[in-house]
Amino acid sequence: MQIKISQGWPEDMEATARFLDRNWDYDSINTDLLQEKLYEDPYADPQLCFTAVEKGDICGFLYGVRRDIRGVAYGYVKLMAVDASKRRQKIGTQLYQKAEKQLIDKGATCLRWYDVPLNYFMPGIDPRYTAAYCFAQKMGFKKFDESLNMITDLGAMDWNTQKEEKELAKKGVKVRRATPENRKALSELLETEWELWANEVDMAMKDTPPSVHIAFIDNKLRAFSVHNGNNKGTGWFGPMGTHPELRGLGMGNILLKRCLQDMKNQGHTHAIIPWVAPVSFYSHYVKAHINRVFWRMEKQIKTS
Ligand SMILES: CC(C)(COP(=O)(O)OP(=O)(O)OC[C@H]1O[C@@H](n2cnc3c(N)ncnc32)[C@H](O)[C@@H]1OP(=O)(O)O)[C@@H](O)C(=O)NCCC(=O)NCCS
Repeated sequence: MQIKISQGWPEDMEATARFLDRNWDYDSINTDLLQEKLYEDPYADPQLCFTAVEKGDICGFLYGVRRDIRGVAYGYVKLMAVDASKRRQKIGTQLYQKAEKQLIDKGATCLRWYDVPLNYFMPGIDPRYTAAYCFAQKMGFKKFDESLNMITDLGAMDWNTQKEEKELAKKGVKVRRATPENRKALSELLETEWELWANEVDMAMKDTPPSVHIAFIDNKLRAFSVHNGNNKGTGWFGPMGTHPELRGLGMGNILLKRCLQDMKNQGHTHAIIPWVAPVSFYSHYVKAHINRVFWRMEKQIKTS
């Protein structure tokens, strides 16, 4: 078997997307989505992209990214698969070792698997990919946390929030869709506690009209909700945030439902609410339920 591993952006993006789609049992990807995952990553780096090819056919792929987050130099495996007919032949090991070396050369001191802030595919290893979990363990990773995705049926409820918005207007609260002119005020709000979400807000602001809803109190932008800011085209909700000055008024409910209404209007049947912390909030307001669990894995790199 003569396998060649090349470094750099895929030569054939469509074939790479088809390869990944075929070799993941619980996820789908198409060319547009793969392009988003690769090129629209804010730290997109072709040196962290590896493709294994045998006799002209792709048999393995790994994409990594490097980020500094809150003072830690992280390196991530962001996407990976080996052809189902070619597993347990160390193709994954070779791809991983090349990526790990590059990530360490680029300064990473802590490695993680899939749970990449700013732009990610899934927030960890879905343990049904048992081979991936065993593989990550073999490469020296340990589970340190879990993350959850929720889902809601967009046909199951009425998402109209006009009544609630009228009530809030009496208290000086205005809710509407964001326009490009709101970008500066949004940035200022994100800087207060949500810097890691700025990229998803930017991605959603690129849509026409923007997939971002905002709320003002006393003409100050104090809350936002976003969809289509990551995994574009898949019915992906989030992030959302309400500044302490506007909490306790039901703002989250309104902003969440405005996004769900958009997604329904775009023809999505379900909304995915990813990497969730406040499970009870989504369960209560929009009848969302947990539908996927991910294991977060980490490997510390010893520095001398
Ligand atoms: C995870 C994956 C990339 C591993 O690729 P691979 O080329 O088969 O991996 P390797 O042959 O280099 O395996 C190295 C080691 O990982 C472990 N491992 C890999 N597959 C395993 C399995 N099915 N069960 C148990 N251990 C496994 C073993 O320790 C193995 O060494 P060994 O064969 O000497 O025992 C591959 O199984 C795959 O593509 N799975 C589906 C896609 C996927 O899960 N992607 C990641 C989503 S988070």
